[in-house]
Amino acid sequence: MSYHLHRRNFLRAGSALVGTASLGLATSRRVRASSLTLEKLRTVHIGVGGMGGSDLNSVASHDHVEVAGLCDVDANTLKSTQARFPSARGFADFREMFSEMGDAIDAVVVSTPDHTHAPAAMMAIAAGKPVYCQKPLTHEVFESRQLRLAAAEKNLVTQMGTQIHSHPAYKRAVRMIQDGVIGKVSQVHAWSNKNWGYDGTEPQPVAPVPDYLNWDLWLGSAPEKDFVPKVYHPGNWRKFVDYGTGTLGDMGVHIFDTPFTALALTAPLNVVTNCRQPTGVGHPEKNQVKYVFPGTEFTTDQLVWSWYDGQNATPEATSVGLPAGTPLPGQGSLFVGEGGQMLLPHIGEAVLFPETKFKEYQRPEVGSDNHYHQWVDACCGKGKTSMGFELAGPLTEALLLGVVANRFPGESLEWNSRDLLVTNVDAANNLLQRDYRDGFEVDGLTPALAGSR
Ligand SMILES: NC(=O)c1ccc[n+]([C@@H]2O[C@H](COP(=O)([O-])OP(=O)(O)OC[C@H]3O[C@@H](n4cnc5c(N)ncnc54)[C@H](O)[C@@H]3O)[C@@H](O)[C@H]2O)c1
Repeated sequence: MSYHLHRRNFLRAGSALVGTASLGLATSRRVRASSLTLEKLRTVHIGVGGMGGSDLNSVASHDHVEVAGLCDVDANTLKSTQARFPSARGFADFREMFSEMGDAIDAVVVSTPDHTHAPAAMMAIAAGKPVYCQKPLTHEVFESRQLRLAAAEKNLVTQMGTQIHSHPAYKRAVRMIQDGVIGKVSQVHAWSNKNWGYDGTEPQPVAPVPDYLNWDLWLGSAPEKDFVPKVYHPGNWRKFVDYGTGTLGDMGVHIFDTPFTALALTAPLNVVTNCRQPTGVGHPEKNQVKYVFPGTEFTTDQLVWSWYDGQNATPEATSVGLPAGTPLPGQGSLFVGEGGQMLLPHIGEAVLFPETKFKEYQRPEVGSDNHYHQWVDACCGKGKTSMGFELAGPLTEALLLGVVANRFPGESLEWNSRDLLVTNVDAANNLLQRDYRDGFEVDGLTPALAGSR
């Protein structure tokens, strides 16, 4: 039996069991989506350098938050962060943090590199904890599906860290599209001139791991590689296929969020990329991706989404149907509707075309939300999150399918979302998930464990 069929059976028959891992964790003080009101939400933070530091500050700025635990594999980062939160317990290994702190944790923030999102978030979910997880939700398509199902089954409060989802400019853009200002949308062009790719061979030279870094834990469930200074940690891991998701996953999740949300898109029908042949090492430094989505109430019969990334990726105005000379931002998207176009810079207010047609148009008022506080409030029983895993999961699955398609440039991958199956290129199914490294398996995510149910 082929690997993907094995997995498909699990998705159909076994997903209701996801997250029932026996981790030996007490779960009596579970915080459920609509349940209790807490005096203080005791948070733990996994990955506290880089964006994790910013996530920590933003969550901790809520009056009802008490930072109870900090986890980082970089001892220097952990030490300097603990100095700011002296009452929080410190750990290098989040598995130890979960088992030692157990019921002293109310909610979990995951801000590690992408390959560790799913293992950390799934352990939190299995323990019945609400999760704020950085974007993209996961590194693998299968992981996104499993996190969404597991969190839904436990009715947990979740939020993906696309904070601009709560920015008024994007909320307004969603309203404008759904109000029909440019009519039904047939195409979206989106681009980022960032380059989170790497076209070279295996990085060299390897060097001893510095004593402040636990490289084994940094690798976690991902394939083992030798440490090369400054190449992976911190930040640059995004360029490498084993740890990051390239520009498409990294910036695409922000830039495609508004079209995906506004147009109420679901799973794509197919996706094809135009990039260099795969190297097995890095993501492509330049990439073009075309998705076809089934139509919705806000689109024509189908919606074509075209993505361009890498240096000078910004398209010419005329190539996307705008008047010659129209300045386009370095990152953004263009919605093409039956009655006009909407240009949405990353980050800024939408501009409507033809400008003369929309001169008198009154933009809707929308409120501003604090994405982090929205999650804390929801954990405490007040309101709902706007980027829960029920939305973050499908958005990330779609983007990660494009990342898989990068391994098969020029071949259109036909997608059966229900069964999590590429129906025409069998080899692509082996890239929807991966075996976790020995000792780092997580119930509900590890194929061997999933298949045994
Ligand atoms: N929402 C945004 O605007 C935004 C911006 C930047 C980054 N991000 C996301 O934040 C995440 C982190 O990105 P970054 O640029 O800060 O990366 P980074 O490499 O700079 O920081 C990651 C931190 O996590 C720590 N870490 C790594 N593995 C760990 C593990 N197993 N357990 C505990 N700690 C671990 C590292 O030591 C480091 O402190 C990524 O998912 C990225 O996509 C989001």
